[in-house]
Amino acid sequence: MKIAIILGTRPEIIKMSPIIRQCEKQGINYYILHTGQHYSYEMDKIFFEQLKLPHAKYNLDVGAGKHGKQTGKMLVAIEEILIQDRPDIVLVQGDANTVLAGALAASKLQIKIGHVEAGLRSFDCTMPEETNRIITDHISDYLFTPTETSRKYLLNEGIPEEKIFVTGNTVVDAAYQNLEISKNGANILKELGLKEKEYFAATAHRAENVDGKELLGRILYGFSQIYQEFGLPTIFPAHPRTVKMIKKFGVEVPKRTRLIEPLGYLEFLQLESGARMILTDSGGVEEESCILKVPCVALRDNTERPDFLKQWS
Ligand code: UD1
Ligand code: UDP
Repeated sequence: MKIAIILGTRPEIIKMSPIIRQCEKQGINYYILHTGQHYSYEMDKIFFEQLKLPHAKYNLDVGAGKHGKQTGKMLVAIEEILIQDRPDIVLVQGDANTVLAGALAASKLQIKIGHVEAGLRSFDCTMPEETNRIITDHISDYLFTPTETSRKYLLNEGIPEEKIFVTGNTVVDAAYQNLEISKNGANILKELGLKEKEYFAATAHRAENVDGKELLGRILYGFSQIYQEFGLPTIFPAHPRTVKMIKKFGVEVPKRTRLIEPLGYLEFLQLESGARMILTDSGGVEEESCILKVPCVALRDNTERPDFLKQWS
């Protein structure tokens, strides 16, 4: 059996890493097809290095762009590769445009699709990710859901029971596999001059949060209020999208908010673990807050991860 693992963004690399490690361990015939949706060193290569993942067999270098163009470029290129390679199954993870393109290309070629992290729903169709999730789930053959709740969502949408497997979330495997390595292999608190529980950690990158001046400004204002209230700084490893928008809108970063480059996974796990509290609009970071047992506020109106709400509300 030949498996094509299609990925392209930071969270996909991290959450696919336990599966890639298993494929390696079990000598499974597989390869990685990287769309290049994320391409900056700190959003891409650093994770291959830190997690000791093999190089992608293909990198499409698709890069940034409007949704249609970005997804379309991936679709065209993935189709060519799948025709040439004819894997038995394509594995995709999550809800980024890479997932939709990979699943669509495979579906048209009648190649089986496994969707890792299937069945998440925010019930907010203004989110591009919701469209990607729904379409991918409905054309997948194997739906690997993180929870019973996701399984129920899929059954409610008429997806046959025999296609659904409640497997848990690979983010848990990734965190546990790397926490120990992180303790020995990185010392980000020392580097940043921080003490445990004496800072807040924040991330924000969702289009609906950072692509508008007003909301982005309000999020940063919120960070300044944390300092007013608790006298603690907010450490903010910002996604390149957010940095771009901060520059574009000319919004001010409050004094006690430390805007830094995105961190490697080992460093970020440490930053999360040591934080008094996490503030985030990231799905993966929501999940990690539950694993690491660090209280977390979601900078969002909704979440496709109801178990996160159960833990922290
Ligand atoms: C994408 C996913 C989102 C996921 C996030 C993970 C979609 C629709 N969105 O959002 O669901 O939560 O990845 O981080 O697929 N950029 C760089 N370097 C990079 C990558 C991006 O500079 O390596 C900048 C570019 O200016 C780009 C912008 O970030 O235009 C947005 O990148 P894009 O991949 O379109 O979306 P994300 O916001 O990363
Ligand atoms: N992450 C990281 N460095 C950072 C910020 C996040 O390694 O500076 C990791 C984090 O541990 C999590 C993943 O990136 O596993 C989440 O990715 P992101 O927030 O980009 O996407 P989302 O989960 O929202 O799709």
